[in-house]
Amino acid sequence: MSSRSPHTMSFLELCKAELELCGIGEGSTVAVLSQADDRTAYVNAFLNASEELGATAFQVRLNNRLSTLDGDEGVWAVGATPLAGNRPAIEALKGVDLVVDTIFLLFSPEQLEIQASGTRILLCIEPVEHLREMFPDRTLRERVEAGAELLGNAKQLRFTNAAGSDITYDLGTYPVITQYGYTDTPGRWDHWPSGFLFTGGADDGVNGKVMIAPGDIVFPFKSYAQSPIELTIEAGRIVDVRGPGLDADLFADYMKSFDDPDAYGIAHIGWGMLETAKWGVLAYDRRGMGMHGRSFYGNVLFSTGPNGELGGTNETLCHIDVPMRNCTLELDDQPIVVDGDIVVDGVKSARTVAA
Ligand SMILES: [Fe+2]
Repeated sequence: MSSRSPHTMSFLELCKAELELCGIGEGSTVAVLSQADDRTAYVNAFLNASEELGATAFQVRLNNRLSTLDGDEGVWAVGATPLAGNRPAIEALKGVDLVVDTIFLLFSPEQLEIQASGTRILLCIEPVEHLREMFPDRTLRERVEAGAELLGNAKQLRFTNAAGSDITYDLGTYPVITQYGYTDTPGRWDHWPSGFLFTGGADDGVNGKVMIAPGDIVFPFKSYAQSPIELTIEAGRIVDVRGPGLDADLFADYMKSFDDPDAYGIAHIGWGMLETAKWGVLAYDRRGMGMHGRSFYGNVLFSTGPNGELGGTNETLCHIDVPMRNCTLELDDQPIVVDGDIVVDGVKSARTVAA
């Protein structure tokens, strides 16, 4: 890989460096999946980058356009993809080493089938500036994998914050999922850009209080909480939502709008690892899915709703991600994150990270 900074690279050069991290080179095969006329600049850059690296590459362009990925709409309504039922396209994608997904296949049965064939998948839909700012490197992978080993060996996760959160997750039921922004492992999915890891508590093994504090981010609202939101969680279910301000009302109303008891389940839990991701970015740049917010260094990423991606049975469409600041997270009483700072050698960044 080039030793140049991502900040001075063209988009083509960025895609080339990314594909090199994904193990693409002479003799590799790459397919870029797209729909309609969406993201043609991404398609062209990845195809050209693949060829410059000596790979054989082609585009699978679907005609339908069932999802909106641009702007504030985001990709919150996931489900059927334009790939569903298109057997020849699915087979073509299963035949390559790497699929670059520009349509958002995540959570679809088609994605699982493609991964099961040994094909790895890289999701890439975020604004180019975000791809550049959060460009991954091998050190990030090593740190995320070191964190995953700790998380995978732990029996209990607990997190607290000064606002009054104190919640425990019984671990061991679900696997640990890593995201470090590239993938060179057969059958593995990743998302450029990202940097975090997560698992899930046992379905009835999450108990305590989560106090979302002002400044914590609530997705899909893409906004910072201005007032506290207090969640009471018993045996893996949210049994009470309250707070003195508008935020608690909006949170409760959003969950209620799904008219689904499973909306009150607890989804993944983990922490952010990426030094280049910025907590404050939503104040001036609301584009994209919010990978800055989910990845920023030392956040505790609390989430509600489905756990299907971990292998669980909760498939509710109500999914809320809450990257929280200044939390302390422990695994079997070993501090991993203390007041929003990662404290374990090998997991923490060697660089100084601005608070
Ligand atoms: Fe999530």
